[in-house]
Amino acid sequence: MEKITIVGAGRVGESTAHNLAKAELCRRIALIDIKEGMPQGTALDIQESAPIFGFDTKLTGHNELDAMAGSDLIIITAGVPRKPGMSRSDVLDVNVPVVTEIVDEAVRSAPEAMILMVTNPVDVLTYVAWKRSGWKRNRVFGLSGVLDSTRMASFIAMETGFSIKDITAMVLGGHGDTMVPLPRYSCINGIPISCFLDAQTVARIAERTRQGGAEILALRKTSSAYDAPAAAVATMVDAIQHGRKRILPCVAILDGEYGQNGICMGVPVILGSGGMEQVVELELNEDESGEFVRSAEHVRADLARLRLG
Ligand code: LAC
Repeated sequence: MEKITIVGAGRVGESTAHNLAKAELCRRIALIDIKEGMPQGTALDIQESAPIFGFDTKLTGHNELDAMAGSDLIIITAGVPRKPGMSRSDVLDVNVPVVTEIVDEAVRSAPEAMILMVTNPVDVLTYVAWKRSGWKRNRVFGLSGVLDSTRMASFIAMETGFSIKDITAMVLGGHGDTMVPLPRYSCINGIPISCFLDAQTVARIAERTRQGGAEILALRKTSSAYDAPAAAVATMVDAIQHGRKRILPCVAILDGEYGQNGICMGVPVILGSGGMEQVVELELNEDESGEFVRSAEHVRADLARLRLG
């Protein structure tokens, strides 16, 4: 990719820009935010770290959405974050018009781009972006599972004391309290975690994963998580840029997969140069399916509020 635009130069946007630049995942990064001087200052600050990290990526800051013109990928982090005690759905009404305006500009000035949604509630807003753009579903997808599963993998490492290098975790469903951590598909070097952890500990890890974002927000009070989310975004961009065909859990529009239609949620997908190339269907047992359906109902309730469901 030649040009990536990040809309929203808050902490997630800033940290994402730095991760993408350090890994030279594109030649140019445009950082857009409505706050005057802020994206310009952030872009310059990151640019000044280039001699230390040795990257040639060029960063620019802008206050106008049309700076996204010609982008290959648009990462949307703009919008209002939740405050302690709020759910991700509580910021839906404020963030829909923000996302709609950005998507309209993308259709106008970056018609070949892909959209990676980060703003919450991410499942619903990815759906809004997809509908509004009229683009194929492979080009519009969202962050969630890579973040949720990196949290789950971290908790497995904390509980077992084993190296993080051997741990993989899988989390499906909506990015909210109803997300579906899948211990059966979470392994330490291919060995199911149930071989090392008792059921009670596994249940505790799953619940901590569901509350992972809220835990950070409750501790920081004035800021949601941004380091792990930005690292997760960079992982997705790396998979696209290098056409890796990684199997990663992402927010995707479902077209019959997992028995769901007209909805967008976290599922494992093949992520490569074509974006969300294919949804990977896992065999779920009765409990897992039940949790997935409950999570879908939660996302549908938000879509229905917007009269999209
Ligand atoms: C979190 C926010 C980004 O999970 O949704 O931290």
